[in-house]
Amino acid sequence: RTVYVNGQYLPETEAKVSIFDRGFLMADAVYEVTSVLDGKLIDFEGHAVRLKRSLDELDMAAPCSKEELLEIHRKLVELNGIEEGLIYLQVTRGSDGDRNFVFPSDDIRPTIVLFTQNKPGLADSPAARKGAKVISIEDIRWGRRDIKTVQLLYPSMGKMMAKNAGADDAWMIEDGYVTEGTSNNAYFVKSGKIVTRPLSTDILHGITRKAVLRMAAEAQMEVEERLFTIDEAKEADEAFTTSASAFVMPVVEIDGVQLGDGTPGPIAKRLREIYLDESL
Ligand code: PDD
Repeated sequence: RTVYVNGQYLPETEAKVSIFDRGFLMADAVYEVTSVLDGKLIDFEGHAVRLKRSLDELDMAAPCSKEELLEIHRKLVELNGIEEGLIYLQVTRGSDGDRNFVFPSDDIRPTIVLFTQNKPGLADSPAARKGAKVISIEDIRWGRRDIKTVQLLYPSMGKMMAKNAGADDAWMIEDGYVTEGTSNNAYFVKSGKIVTRPLSTDILHGITRKAVLRMAAEAQMEVEERLFTIDEAKEADEAFTTSASAFVMPVVEIDGVQLGDGTPGPIAKRLREIYLDESL
């Protein structure tokens, strides 16, 4: 694989970042994951805008312009021959050559790293045909989940809890209400109405969420943005999640409770279809 690090395209074995980098020592870093279908970037603009917002919220300098970022994405897709897959981008506050809680001075350049992940079958996914099983866990993450930081230890532990329970993913609950999945936004459908949590600092403002809610409205589907409990979701006709890495993923079981007939619901399937059609 050819990867990108701080202005250079290199074989992955030759790419290097300092051990003092604040991304490594302090999780002082933000990221984006953009999907590639048919060799084309999906919603690059949305991801670029959210990256800028994450950087601004953390008072971190942008490593390059949006145009340069697009160029790097395109070049990596081409160099690695990606037809279907993901591009991971991370920007860190860089390194002043030591470990300090105080941010380094402004002349320290941010670190920027990008790499591709080749994923044939991302669109025509067996996992999506089957649907996902989720468990619910407490949400103990920090309070600024709208900033896409690399603090992914708890989401990672949540995935392991799900895996150990024989499920695929976990939905997180705070103050009695579902926030989101470990790496996706969460929805349920009851009597034809799609329900999802409204945007706030409590959840990531999903790029796929925005696109899917627009498509749902265009398809005359009813959408309500409000807080919801896991019990409501368990009593739903169907449920699903959205993310750049899995698009629309039907959910067929929550905490061992089967939804509907235990297969992907019609609305989730339809939205996945519309999303992929529009993207391809
Ligand atoms: N995760 N919520 C969380 C906590 C996420 O980590 C993500 C994305 C989403 C969905 O956002 P989007 O539609 O913009 O991908 C919601 C990425 C894919 C990841 O961590 O791999």
